[in-house]
Amino acid sequence: MKAAVLTEQPGDLVIEDLTIDKPGRGEVLIQTVGAGLCHSDLHFMEGLFRSQLPIVMGHESAGIVQAVGEDVDYVKPGDHVVACLSIFCGQCKQCLGGHPNRCANPQATSRAKGAAPRLSRADGTAVEQMARLGGFAEEMLVHQNGLVKVIEEMPLDKACLIGCGITTGFGAVVRTAGVTVGSTVCVIGAGGIGLAAVQGARIAGANKVIVVDVSSAKLETAGQLGGTHFVNASQTDDVVGEVKELTGGGVDYSFEAIGRSQTVRQAFDMLAVGGTATVIGMVPSKDEVTLRGIDFLQEKKLQGSMMGSNQFRTDIPSMIDMYLDGRLLIDEMVSATIDLEGVNEGYRMMKNGEVARTVITFD
Ligand SMILES: NC(=O)c1ccc[n+]([C@@H]2O[C@H](COP(=O)([O-])OP(=O)(O)OC[C@H]3O[C@@H](n4cnc5c(N)ncnc54)[C@H](O)[C@@H]3O)[C@@H](O)[C@H]2O)c1
Ligand SMILES: [Zn+2]
Ligand SMILES: [Zn+2]
Repeated sequence: MKAAVLTEQPGDLVIEDLTIDKPGRGEVLIQTVGAGLCHSDLHFMEGLFRSQLPIVMGHESAGIVQAVGEDVDYVKPGDHVVACLSIFCGQCKQCLGGHPNRCANPQATSRAKGAAPRLSRADGTAVEQMARLGGFAEEMLVHQNGLVKVIEEMPLDKACLIGCGITTGFGAVVRTAGVTVGSTVCVIGAGGIGLAAVQGARIAGANKVIVVDVSSAKLETAGQLGGTHFVNASQTDDVVGEVKELTGGGVDYSFEAIGRSQTVRQAFDMLAVGGTATVIGMVPSKDEVTLRGIDFLQEKKLQGSMMGSNQFRTDIPSMIDMYLDGRLLIDEMVSATIDLEGVNEGYRMMKNGEVARTVITFD
């Protein structure tokens, strides 16, 4: 089966023909229908985060179950599924404490060390899977605890975006931060993640939803999805001052959805007294974030968010209902649909800030 493989860092993806193993215990073989391009893969392609190589990239995919391995009781062939990288064991302290997105026992849902690889090249070389999913591929072999069944009315080329981007942005607002009705929100970065956060803020009943981006096209899209006020960061050198002015002193909740220490600092500095800044973006592993210590006396808080603190087996079906009844807008987030061969061009468009989300479809 064809897959987009990262073979060096930094590097573009190479389309290779790989062998996929039969599903082992707890594993499910999926025919991929749609795969979204998330910026996290780009960070790895740019070498900002290290990874084992070679690796099939992609972690925002949906498809149809082809076959199941021993002990798989959650899905059967023909079921429609969305994959999510928050693969839970269901038994560790984090899972049992209500935080399956932080599962501390990935070994329980992976093949044992030394076992045959899930993916390999013709010469036998093992090939890794991004986030244990490897979604930029015609087929995926995934543990059943990384899947949620979805209803067939839900188009899979839209459902895939819920697997990472929408779960992450929406969840950061409604789960990690718990934005309350009437509060003020600012989302910095209006890519796939930020636009989902904007929608989370609208659905949670925020009063003002300020959106910051360097692209006026992105800000326009944000306006269709629930943004109420906009700051173009390429046209001002005082983003924080502008947000403070719009809110009479700062926002109750801010979200950083880019992954830069400079914008994390902005997210913290634009808070009202008692406000909470949530960092969603992946800040390069060598970068540090500095804050002014005195601000803590105003009870300002800074926190991270991993995959929107999701409980995806219940969150994703609920988001699908909101999509099908017109409250969660996904079609508006898709700027381009491409085939697998177009994946590097898709990432070039993301780098240039030309697109909200690009989706790979397989036929
Ligand atoms: N925490 C998690 O669990 C998680 C999950 C998925 C993605 N992420 C991370 O979230 C971040 C966003 O991902 P995405 O797919 O939405 O990326 P994206 O590239 O689609 O969006 C980033 C946006 O930021 C804007 N931007 C860039 N520099 C800016 C600046 N200085 N000021 C204002 N706006 C600026 C761009 O124009 C773009 O619209 C990435 O770092 C990604 O790795 C984190
Ligand atoms: Zn992602
Ligand atoms: Zn666990």
